[in-house]
Amino acid sequence: MCGIIGYTGHRPAVPLVMEGLKRLEYRGYDSSGVCFVQNRELHVIRAEGKLKLLEDKLAGREVSLSTTAMGHTRWATHGAPTEDNAHPHLSCYGKLAIVHNGIIENYQERKNDLLSKGVRFSSETDTEVLVNCIEDELKPGLSLLEAFAGALQKAHGAYALALLSPDEPNVVYAARQSAPLLLGIGAGENFVASDIPAFLPFTRDVVFLEDGEIVRITPTSWEVFSIDTLQPLEKKPQRIEWDLQAAQKGGFKHFMLKEIFEQPRAIADCMSGRVNLERLEVSIPELDSADAPARLRVIACGTSYNAGLWAMPLMEQWAGIPTTVEIASEFRYRNALLSPGELALVISQSGETADTLAALRIARQQGCPVLGLCNVIGSSIAREADMVVFTQAGPEVSVASTKALSSQMVVLLLMALYWGRKKKTLDRETLRQALRGLAALPTQLESLMPSLNDEARRMAARFSSCRGMFFLGRGQSYPLALEGALKVKELSYIHAEGYAAGEMKHGPIALVDPEFPSFFIAPHDDLFAKSKSNLEEVAARSGPVIALTNPPKPGMELRGGESWILPDAWGPLSGFLMLPAIQLFSYEAATLLGKDVDQPRNLAKSVTVE
Ligand code: F6R
Repeated sequence: MCGIIGYTGHRPAVPLVMEGLKRLEYRGYDSSGVCFVQNRELHVIRAEGKLKLLEDKLAGREVSLSTTAMGHTRWATHGAPTEDNAHPHLSCYGKLAIVHNGIIENYQERKNDLLSKGVRFSSETDTEVLVNCIEDELKPGLSLLEAFAGALQKAHGAYALALLSPDEPNVVYAARQSAPLLLGIGAGENFVASDIPAFLPFTRDVVFLEDGEIVRITPTSWEVFSIDTLQPLEKKPQRIEWDLQAAQKGGFKHFMLKEIFEQPRAIADCMSGRVNLERLEVSIPELDSADAPARLRVIACGTSYNAGLWAMPLMEQWAGIPTTVEIASEFRYRNALLSPGELALVISQSGETADTLAALRIARQQGCPVLGLCNVIGSSIAREADMVVFTQAGPEVSVASTKALSSQMVVLLLMALYWGRKKKTLDRETLRQALRGLAALPTQLESLMPSLNDEARRMAARFSSCRGMFFLGRGQSYPLALEGALKVKELSYIHAEGYAAGEMKHGPIALVDPEFPSFFIAPHDDLFAKSKSNLEEVAARSGPVIALTNPPKPGMELRGGESWILPDAWGPLSGFLMLPAIQLFSYEAATLLGKDVDQPRNLAKSVTVE
């Protein structure tokens, strides 16, 4: 969703802000803009489409003297992605400029009020209403900080904001409520931004802002206040250890491809410090203080939801914990009942997904303890959960989630082992097989990746011209089927349905014809014979078939269609080999069709609106 950067310091601010916006491009956007202060005047330049178009507009403008500026990439919510609706927005009388990520829910009511006072608007956005509300608050004797806070106290909804005024040419104001915003603390310069990469080349010292906080930065100072009381708040900067290299393409054509290939490393990093192979022990100190839960309610969205579904049988079979998995946007509006002893496990790569965060708050209101499984340190979910376990996958930049899923699967599997041992429901032999297999996975997967990519390219060339396709699986292959369909849809815009293979006969099989392939995820597990029957049913109706499976054994040969053979793996671990195959298939299909792989249309990396 929208990206924000604000800067005040000693460097030319506009080029710096443009570089920062490029590092936030992964968030997804459809227009962009910058505002800078020069000769005590605000200058706003905006463009529809990609940042290159904004750069073209800036070329030839004298911007090098300005050392205070802010920039924005917009993911449209109110009003079409036009230049008029792009941020920054100036107030009616030109005294203020603002950029905004989020939604002001009561903007229409506030707009009517301002219209009655003669304020005129040039966009359809809620943001332009907000900047005028701040200007409206600016009464003689009040500081801009007070006016800003006053307007925010009356605004309902979600926001990360940055604000400039020509009267304070070396100051950036910012505020946060339910949308990500950070402070970067430099030497003779300070930053605000939606995410760390925006300013990482200049500083590693970061203050994570909380909801309800407002900030004032100058080149040499930074202060944080409560929006409600304007009392100064004490905040401690944290040092970021990872570098920009980790958030760059590193020779790969796309971030997505790089992140798919990073999975062996992500799996190894997730295990590191948590697995002791000699002593056959799993340690997750974050969980030590509580008993294993009596029930588990997993709540998440999209790919993170698929991770929860994948882990459900492990929680039940190994740890004996009855588990339900729910989509956060449904959970939050159905007055769900959580039972005593239940633990809510919210899964989110970004830690900022609005629906998942709302579900977390609902669970806490019901007195249910919340465990967060997140990838981003300092994210809202990581901070609001009672306990948090980090996936350690490193920054995921591509909009389509890939390495986050394998790392979530590793941690969830380790949690099931950990609770299984704690409750004594797990036998030592299963623990041994799981840990040995897991430890061998990174090397096994690393050597497999090139051939997976070749095969994915071949399969994509054969099937990417189809009008639609199925992804089918049973048991733990069902969530992988959902994930395959999600990836194909979001990247190549081919209609793909993820289905439980056993459910096919209850309607969906009507879609099968020679133009509608079915991608079966059929490892040699206990359900293989069942999947094989479903596959044969499809083949018998002239439906093309791809089967992701293991080397044929007597009695386990598949008839009909193309088999994509992967090495055998123990039990649930086969999912870690099958997953990159489906990811690469969707990546190659989208590339062949000429789609924008890292920034698919209409999508945003972290979905901070509901
Ligand atoms: C799909 C994808 C999304 C996210 C979903 C949840 O490739 O990226 O479906 O998985 O928006 O995001 P997080 O995990 O950040 O809560």
